[in-house]
Amino acid sequence: MSLPTTASRVTLTTLNEMKRQSAPIVALTAYDASFARLLDAAGVDVVLVGDSLGMVIQGEDTTVPTCMEAMIYHAKCTSRGLDRALLMVDMPFMSYATEADALRNASRLMKEGGGGIVKLEWGALQLPMVRRLSECGVPVCAHLGLTPQRVFKTGGYRVEGRDADTAKRMLADADALVAAGADMLLLECVPAELAAEIKTRVPVPVIGIGAGVDVDGQVLVLYDILDIAPGKRTRFSRNYLGQGGSIQGAVRAYVEDVRARRFPTADYSFS
Ligand code: KIV
Repeated sequence: MSLPTTASRVTLTTLNEMKRQSAPIVALTAYDASFARLLDAAGVDVVLVGDSLGMVIQGEDTTVPTCMEAMIYHAKCTSRGLDRALLMVDMPFMSYATEADALRNASRLMKEGGGGIVKLEWGALQLPMVRRLSECGVPVCAHLGLTPQRVFKTGGYRVEGRDADTAKRMLADADALVAAGADMLLLECVPAELAAEIKTRVPVPVIGIGAGVDVDGQVLVLYDILDIAPGKRTRFSRNYLGQGGSIQGAVRAYVEDVRARRFPTADYSFS
């Protein structure tokens, strides 16, 4: 496991300081060492080994089948390519259903996978897991809004928080998660105005995907920005390959756009 021992290594302290200074945080997914090296060199701050790997690497239709062994394998590969970026690793579906599961599996993602922070999708039942992980020294990012692991329950992918009740609940959830010890929030497919309100009220970094420009940072799926993800492009992702001219150029263009708050524009956001 790579420890954040050098001054230049991105840590939670770095990300909190970036929030304080309103310096946009750049995050992107990767699943192997070669891409991790490339993202690290381009200045990406947080590399996420997302459970999206089940879809873009393994060819599944949803993230639900992604398993712990795959997460650990890809996290381990990715961690070897990183010198600077913080490695965030997704806890896959049902790997944090009980406190014991959450502790055992988060520990594996850190010890075996080399993760520096784990991400889990928020539901009302996850609050005790976040608290317990935090008490045990596991950095946690809570994923709110559209939570793809629940697709079989919700019946599809849609923007979350458009009506007053859901928006109110999301604000309360954000507060409760931070009080329980969440170190970061990730908002997926959330109206830009609501995402901005959450970013302002919580003291931890808020990263968005389809959550507008007024959050502390952005994340996208690497294969989407390189236009090689199977299926239809999601509204909030952007093909950077045309603009960048090469894989390195595409990643650099994304980094520059996020740093300058040129991405996402309203075309890639929801109201
Ligand atoms: O799995 C993933 O890649 C993610 C992103 C969509 C944020 O969770």
